[in-house]
Amino acid sequence: MDARTRLKTLPLRNRPRRLRHSTRLRAAVRETVLTPADFIYPLFIVHGENVRDPIPSMPGICQLSVDQAVEEAGRAAAAGISAVLLFGIPASKDPIGHENFDDDGIIQRTVRALKDALPDLLVVTDVCLCEYTDHGHCGVLNHENPVLPAGYVLNDETLDVLARVSVSHARAGADVVAPSGMIDGMVAGIREGLDEYGYDHIPIMSYAIKYASAFYGPFRDAAQGAPKFGDRRTHQMDPGNVREALKEAALDVGEGADFLMVKPALAYLDVIRRVRDAHPELPMVAYNVSGEYSMVKAAGERGWLDERSIALENLTAIKRAGADLIITYHALDAARWIEGRPPA
Ligand code: PBG
Repeated sequence: MDARTRLKTLPLRNRPRRLRHSTRLRAAVRETVLTPADFIYPLFIVHGENVRDPIPSMPGICQLSVDQAVEEAGRAAAAGISAVLLFGIPASKDPIGHENFDDDGIIQRTVRALKDALPDLLVVTDVCLCEYTDHGHCGVLNHENPVLPAGYVLNDETLDVLARVSVSHARAGADVVAPSGMIDGMVAGIREGLDEYGYDHIPIMSYAIKYASAFYGPFRDAAQGAPKFGDRRTHQMDPGNVREALKEAALDVGEGADFLMVKPALAYLDVIRRVRDAHPELPMVAYNVSGEYSMVKAAGERGWLDERSIALENLTAIKRAGADLIITYHALDAARWIEGRPPA
């Protein structure tokens, strides 16, 4: 038999299944591997002591007082997680949210306590107004300008507050500030503020692409930052848009963003991929948001899906789409699952 005929009689030469034979082989050729260092763990901080108030729509996640946040962050650091992301719930709210830039505010106190107890754990702070304002909007609202609707989020007035908040967080010791309000020019405004006060070494993790998403519902319970009227569609992005996401990313890069973020993650994997490809020079973050977490939790509690497998599959998908870092409420459990340890 000549070589040609032999080739024809051979069974399929190309058998991808050859590489799937054993656990060891599959692990050796796996392209996307999660590690605990991929994760950023969000924490909700409240005033008081010894507080661990469960958030009903986010099973497993609590509002924590500063002391409890230090304990929880200690568990995160021990599990190999890179960073915590802090959201503060102030003692009182007002139209511009004064506690947000008070050096003795809830976040400033938490940052000092965390850097003191866990100097190696990165502390990222959320920079936005909605948890601090009595109206629940992400900026200063219009009352006087007749050209704009009453209650419209004023862009440039909000930038001043965001810069003050960022400087105050940096002064407390924050490693990274993360503006989440989708206010035009927020990266440039914050950069200018930080540089002016000598914090030119503090990076900005910009929520460059944040959609007006219903997936934030449980978060708004957790952070008590739901708008009292209206919605966020005049500044957050329309879910149907992706070209606009590339424009938002390019603008933030131009303003000096050090990280780019896409939020939410699972329903926007195509956006993560597009932004990753358009900006290979910057680290990419994806926010696996509250609603995405709660869906997995709810189905897991009902026995409809296996929480652990689904959570790890989702996180792998987000990383495969191009995220270098993933903000996730599953961080602590996922880090332990990856390391083969039992969850908390
Ligand atoms: C505040 C902010 C929100 C989230 C993070 N920062 C809510 C919103 O924009 O209404 C959502 C996070 C989550 O759902 O987990 N600007």
